[in-house]
Amino acid sequence: MRKLSEMILVTGGTGYIGSHVCIALLDAGFDVVVLDNLSNSNQTSLERVQSICGRSLVFRHADIRHEEAIHAILRSCGVTAVIHLAGLKAVGDSNVRPLSYYENNVLGTMRLVSAMKRANVKTLVFSSSATVYGIPKYLPLDEKHPLCPTNPYGRTKLVIEEMLKDLCRSDDDWRIANLRYFNPVGAHESGLVGEDPLGLPDNLLPFVAQVAIGRREKLQIWGNDYDTPDGTGVRDFIHVVDLASGHLSALRNLRQPGVLTVNLGTGNGSSVLDIVRTFEAASGRSVPYEIKERRAGDVAACYADPTFAMEALGWKSTRSLEQMCADHWRWQLQNPDGYHGSALSKTGAVQAFPPSRMSACASAIRTGDAERIRGEHTAHQR
Ligand code: UD1
Repeated sequence: MRKLSEMILVTGGTGYIGSHVCIALLDAGFDVVVLDNLSNSNQTSLERVQSICGRSLVFRHADIRHEEAIHAILRSCGVTAVIHLAGLKAVGDSNVRPLSYYENNVLGTMRLVSAMKRANVKTLVFSSSATVYGIPKYLPLDEKHPLCPTNPYGRTKLVIEEMLKDLCRSDDDWRIANLRYFNPVGAHESGLVGEDPLGLPDNLLPFVAQVAIGRREKLQIWGNDYDTPDGTGVRDFIHVVDLASGHLSALRNLRQPGVLTVNLGTGNGSSVLDIVRTFEAASGRSVPYEIKERRAGDVAACYADPTFAMEALGWKSTRSLEQMCADHWRWQLQNPDGYHGSALSKTGAVQAFPPSRMSACASAIRTGDAERIRGEHTAHQR
C-alpha cells in the first residue's frame, strides 16, 4: 500500500494526456509535481485539474533537456516516481525536422533518467506509442509484434524503449513501464479539460469536433478504398480517462525490477465513418465530409490486443465509443476555442498540499524567471 503523500513527477503534465493523468493521480491520493516547457500546451489545464480534484499540485516551468533543473525538482520535492509524457509527437512534423525529435524525445529522456539515477529515483512510467509497431503484420497487435516504425517520431519512441531496457539490464533497481498508446480521444466528463490542438488538427477526433461546432466546413476522409468493412481506416480509439487510469495501474504494478511493456488500447477497431456517425449522434450536429486520396503513411487498420494489460496491470478500458464522442463533444462545446482566452487565476486554489513541503519544493528552483515565480504560487498554476 503506497503512502498517500507519495510525490509523482509528471513531465508534460499540462498537455492533453498529462492533465488527465494528473487528475487520476490526485484522485488516487498521490501528490503531483508537473514539469513542462509549455511548448505545445496551456497551463490553464492545471487550474482546471485542481478545480476538478479539489486538490493542489506543484507546477515547474522547466525542460526535460535540463538535467540540473530536473535533478533539483526531484530532490526538493521528494519525488518517488516519474510519469514521463513530455515530448514532440506530430508524425508529419517529425519528417520535416527529425533532429528536433531526437533532441527533445531521445536526449530529453536521457537527461531525465540521468537526473533520476543521480537522485536515486528509479521508478518510471514512459509514454510510448503503438506507432513503434509500424505496418501491422497481423491483427490485433500484441506486444510481441515486430517493431518497425515508419517515421522519425516512431523511431524516437523505439530508441527510448531500447535505452530504458539497457538501463534496466545495467541496474536491478530500475522499474520501468513502456506504455504503448493506441488512439487517445475524449475528455474528462466535466468538460473542463480536453485536447486543445494548436492550428489545424492532425488527428481525426479534434477535426471532427471542430467541424461539428462549425469552426471548419467539412472533414476530409483520407481514403475509402482500404480493405476494411466500409473502406475507411480503422483504429483503436481509447478514452483518455481510461488511458490515464492505465498509467495509475502501471505505477501501482511496478513491483518487479525490469521493464514492463504494455499496450494501452481497447481491442476494438472503429472506422472513420463509425466515428463520424457516432459523433453526429452524440452531438446532434451533422459532420459533412468529403472523400479524398489516402494520406501518405496511413495503414488500413490498427488495433490492440489488450490481453497482456489485464494480465500484467489488471487494467482494461471501460468506456464506449459513444462515451468518447459525448465527452469529446462536451469539452468542445464548453471550450470552442480550447483553453485560449481563459484567464489564469492566481487566487482561489484549493490548498491541500502540505505547506512545508510545498515551499521547500518551490524554493529549490528559484531562478527569477517570471514563469517559474508564478509557478511558485503553486497550485493554481496550469
Ligand atoms: C496518428 C499517428 C500516431 C499517433 C496517433 C495519436 C500518423 C501516421 N500516426 O495515428 O503516431 O500515435 O495519431 O493520436 O499520423 N483521418 C481522416 N481525416 C482527418 C484525420 C484523420 O480521414 O482529417 C483518418 C486517418 O486517415 C486514419 C484515422 O482517421 O485512418 C485516424 O487518424 P489519426 O487520428 O491521424 O490517427 P493515426 O493516423 O492512427
